[in-house]
Amino acid sequence: MKLVLTGAAGRLGSHLREPLSKMCDELVSTDIVDNIGTLYEGERYEKADLASLDDMMRVLEGADQVVHFGAIGDEAPFDQILGPNIIGAYNVWEAAYQHDLRRVVYASSIHAVGMHAKTDFIGTDAPHRPDTFYGLAKCFAEDLASMYWDKRGIESVCMRILSCAQVNNARALGSWLSYDDLIHLVKQSINTPTTGFAVVYGVSNNDRAPVDNANVSFLGYRPKDNAEQFAEKVLADEPEQDLDDIAHHCQGGPFASVELGNSGVATMNIVQDAKKI
Ligand SMILES: NC(=O)c1ccc[n+]([C@@H]2O[C@H](COP(=O)([O-])OP(=O)(O)OC[C@H]3O[C@@H](n4cnc5c(N)ncnc54)[C@H](O)[C@@H]3O)[C@@H](O)[C@H]2O)c1
Repeated sequence: MKLVLTGAAGRLGSHLREPLSKMCDELVSTDIVDNIGTLYEGERYEKADLASLDDMMRVLEGADQVVHFGAIGDEAPFDQILGPNIIGAYNVWEAAYQHDLRRVVYASSIHAVGMHAKTDFIGTDAPHRPDTFYGLAKCFAEDLASMYWDKRGIESVCMRILSCAQVNNARALGSWLSYDDLIHLVKQSINTPTTGFAVVYGVSNNDRAPVDNANVSFLGYRPKDNAEQFAEKVLADEPEQDLDDIAHHCQGGPFASVELGNSGVATMNIVQDAKKI
């Protein structure tokens, strides 16, 4: 099996490279940076721009599946999102179609449905309700995935990741996706024999998880970690959440209240714990 990983230089990509390299004969890791340092056995690096169809055609050639994690990972002005996140999504699915790949495993985001109330405990069939241009681009990619399945038979698993980062705030007690559970989810998304077009929430087995994956039990995603282990410390450091505050009320957290085009990540104190070889 040959796999392609986009966004390989990113934080999540850094945690996926080794497990992906072990589950295939050849892993092509790709990103826009010049290099990603030491490679794992069976891994090759190719610099490529998501916004270039020629580049995506080059890196996807001969692959069975693509694990698509490359993107601007934050809210930004529309013209910055457009190339990597929107045109980039088209390029990945179109190159996958032209090279006859079986499936796209896609890092979508909770921000595709970020304006839904957390108390609604939404399922994977909740209508799109983006909170930012970033979330809107995830909606576009999910609809593209749906269309490429219906019209061209390319399977997709759109993983709406909630927050895959260290738990250092009260929202993350519900939204946390541990790296181990991320890896398990990506493996299930690749290995499940038939997925068609599927949407799944990327969230650990948190007592306070605000979303429902009941519709996609066929993926065999059974997360093991639970953010409740961090609750005592986090809640001691953070005053009670005011549910009238849109950033606490909505799935998207700070992205739900930020001005369009302004960074949401800047307010989130994310620990940059990329995996090093
Ligand atoms: N981290 C999270 O909690 C989270 C939550 C929801 C969704 N996601 C999604 O998961 C994916 C990875 O997130 P991350 O936290 O690792 O982000 P990241 O910013 O660390 O990684 C994204 C990578 O994409 C690359 N990239 C950007 N523009 C590119 C271009 N034009 N061509 C090629 N590569 C380009 C960047 O160089 C970077 O290495 C993203 O799609 C993000 O939207 C992440």
